[in-house]
Amino acid sequence: MDMLGDWKRTDYCGQLTAGDIGREVILMGWALRRRDHGGLIFIDLRDREGIAQIVFDPEVNSAAHQVAEGVRSEYVLAVKGKVIPRPAGTVNPAMKTGEVEIQVLECKLLNRSKALPFMLDEHSDVNENIRLKYRYLDMRRPQLQQKLILRHQVAQVTRQYLSDNGFIELETPFLTKSTPEGARDFLVPSRINQGQFYALPQSPQIFKQILMISGFDRYFQIVRCFRDEDLRADRQPEFTQIDCEMSFIDREDIITVMEGLIARIFKEAKGIDVQLPVERMTYQEAIRRFGVDNPDLRFGLELVELTDIVKGSGFKVFADVAANGGIIKGINAKGCAGFSRKEIDDLTQFVAIYGAKGLAYVKVTPEGWQSPITKFFNEAELAAMKDAFGAEEGDLLLFVADKPKVVNDSLGKLRNQLAAMLKLTDPNVYRFVWITDFPLLEWDEEEKRWAAVHHPFTAPMDEDLAYVESDPGRCRAKAYDLVLNGNEIGGGSIRIHQEQVQSLMFKMLGMSEESARSKFGFLLDALEFGTPPHGGIAFGMDRLVMLLTGSDSIRDVIAFPKTQKGTCLMSEAPSVVDNKQLRELGIRLAAAAAPATP
Ligand code: AMO
Ligand code: AMP
Repeated sequence: MDMLGDWKRTDYCGQLTAGDIGREVILMGWALRRRDHGGLIFIDLRDREGIAQIVFDPEVNSAAHQVAEGVRSEYVLAVKGKVIPRPAGTVNPAMKTGEVEIQVLECKLLNRSKALPFMLDEHSDVNENIRLKYRYLDMRRPQLQQKLILRHQVAQVTRQYLSDNGFIELETPFLTKSTPEGARDFLVPSRINQGQFYALPQSPQIFKQILMISGFDRYFQIVRCFRDEDLRADRQPEFTQIDCEMSFIDREDIITVMEGLIARIFKEAKGIDVQLPVERMTYQEAIRRFGVDNPDLRFGLELVELTDIVKGSGFKVFADVAANGGIIKGINAKGCAGFSRKEIDDLTQFVAIYGAKGLAYVKVTPEGWQSPITKFFNEAELAAMKDAFGAEEGDLLLFVADKPKVVNDSLGKLRNQLAAMLKLTDPNVYRFVWITDFPLLEWDEEEKRWAAVHHPFTAPMDEDLAYVESDPGRCRAKAYDLVLNGNEIGGGSIRIHQEQVQSLMFKMLGMSEESARSKFGFLLDALEFGTPPHGGIAFGMDRLVMLLTGSDSIRDVIAFPKTQKGTCLMSEAPSVVDNKQLRELGIRLAAAAAPATP
C-alpha cells in the first residue's frame, strides 16, 4: 500500500496563520530542527513555502510521540494535526506562522536522511564547493528556493508581456552550425557524419534573423546559450537569454518595447517602479567619463582628463606617454588621503591587472600636496590639476598614463573597486542606462585584424556606411546595450539586411569569400530573398535575476550551475567516456589528453 494511504496534504507548512486556528490539517515536509522539552517534542517542519512548528504530546498520541523521538534533521514527515494558538509568550513575530503551532494527532515517517554534510540553517557559512556537490541539499534552503522561484516569476512575466505585445515564441536548434559571437564554440561530434561537428549555439542570432526573413515579424525565446569562455562571477558556460527580434522597426521601437518589458519585470517581481524612459549615454561619453562601456551610475568618482594639462610637464612619464599618442587621466578618490602606503600599493597592483604600468598619486593634506611627483609640476600645472579634479583637503588623486585603452580600462575598473571599498554602491538603488553608438569594429591586436564589437550582423550607422572599408575605426554601429548598476544585462542592434553589406562586413573581418560562404552561405542566400529591415536584443536572464535578488554570484540563481572551471561538482561533468563511445564517433584522443576508460 502507498505510504500516504488516504492522506492528502491540505496546506503548505509556511502558509498557516491565526486564521487557521481550529482547523485540522495534513502537512508534509522535512524536519529542520527538533527540540525535546521533557515530554513535549517540537519539530520545525519545512516545505517550500516556509516552516510550521509541530508539537508532539505523549498524552495526545504516544505512538506519534515515539516516532518524533527518532526524528533527525531532514527526515521526511507527514502529520495530521490541529492548528492551535501558541501559548502566550512563545509567539514569534518574525515568522509568518509564528502565532500558531500544530498539535499532532497522527504522524507518518515517510523517509529518513543520512547525517547531513552541512547544516541548512540560514546562517551556516559553508564552503561553496561542498554546497555545489550536494546542490539538492543547498537548494532546500529558503534563500536559494526564493531566488529560483523569483526566476520563475521573471520568466512568466516575460512570456506574458511579450505575447501581449505580439511576439511569437519559437524554438531554434541546439545542434547547429557555429555562429560566433566572440567566444569559443562547444562542439558536438556527429556519429552519423563522422569527422563533422555540430556547434552548440552561442546565441540564436542567425536563426532569429532568418525567422524575420520568413515573416514572423516579432519573435522571442527564453533560450539556453553556450559559450566556451573563461568564466567569471557573472558568466556561465551555459546561460539563459531572453532573446527577441522584430521587423519593420527602428532602434527607438525596440528600446520602447524592451523598456516596457524591464519595467514590468521589476514591478511584478520586486514591486519597483522603473523610471521610464531609461537614461541614454553614447559609448564615447561612457568611456570618457567612466572608462568602461558598462558604467555604474550609482556613484560619481568620474575619470578626469589631464593630458593637455600635464603633457608639457617635467614629469617624464606623463610627457613621454603624451608625446607617443597616449593619454593621462585620473580619479579623485574623495576623502581617501588617509590611505596607507600598503593600500596605495594594493591599488597599484589592482590597476596592473589591466596593464597600467604605475599609479601615480597625490594626497591633498592640510600641509599641501604630498606626492612623489608634485615636484615635477609648475604652479600653473598644479592649479589646473586641482581645478580639473575639484581637489579638496582630504582627497587622494590617482593617475594613470598609457595608451587610451589601458588608461580607461584600468581607471574604469579602479573606479568600481574604490566604490566597493568606500561602500558607495547601494544595493537598493537600480540605475539603468542605455549605451548607444558603439563602434562597429575594433582592431584585434592578437589576430591582427578587425573584429566586430557587437557581432558581425550588426548594421553600421547609415552615415558611416561609406567609410566601412576606407576608415573602419571611425564607423559607429546601430548597437545598444542596457546596463544596470554596472552590469551589461542586455545587448542588441539593428541588423544588416542587405547581402552586399553583409558580405562587405565579412570581408572587413578578414574572411575570404570562400570562407564567408562556407560559414555563412545560408545567411547570405537568405538575405537575397526579400529580407525586411529588422533588429533585436537579448537580455542575460541569469544576470538580471542575480541583480533582482541581490545575489553576489550568477550561480545563486541557476539551479545546477557550473564552477569557475566549468565543472558540475554534483554530477561530475565533464568526465571521461568509454573508448567504445569514442570509436563510434570516429574519435581518438591525442596522447596528451586524459585517457578514456577502457
Ligand atoms: P550578447 O553576446 O551581448 O548578445 O549577449 C546578450 C546578454 O547575455 C548575457 N550573457 C551572459 N550571461 C551569462 N553568462 C555568459 N557567459 C554570458 N554571455 C552573455 C549578457 C548579455 O548582455 N545575439 C546577441 C543579441 C542580439 O544582438 O540580439 C547576443 O547574444 O547579459
Ligand atoms: P617612477 O618614476 O617609476 O618611480 O614612478 C613615480 C610614480 O609614478 C610612481 O608612483 C609610479 O607608480 C607612477 N607611475 C609610473 N608609471 C606610471 C604610469 N604609466 N601611469 C601612472 N603612474 C605611473
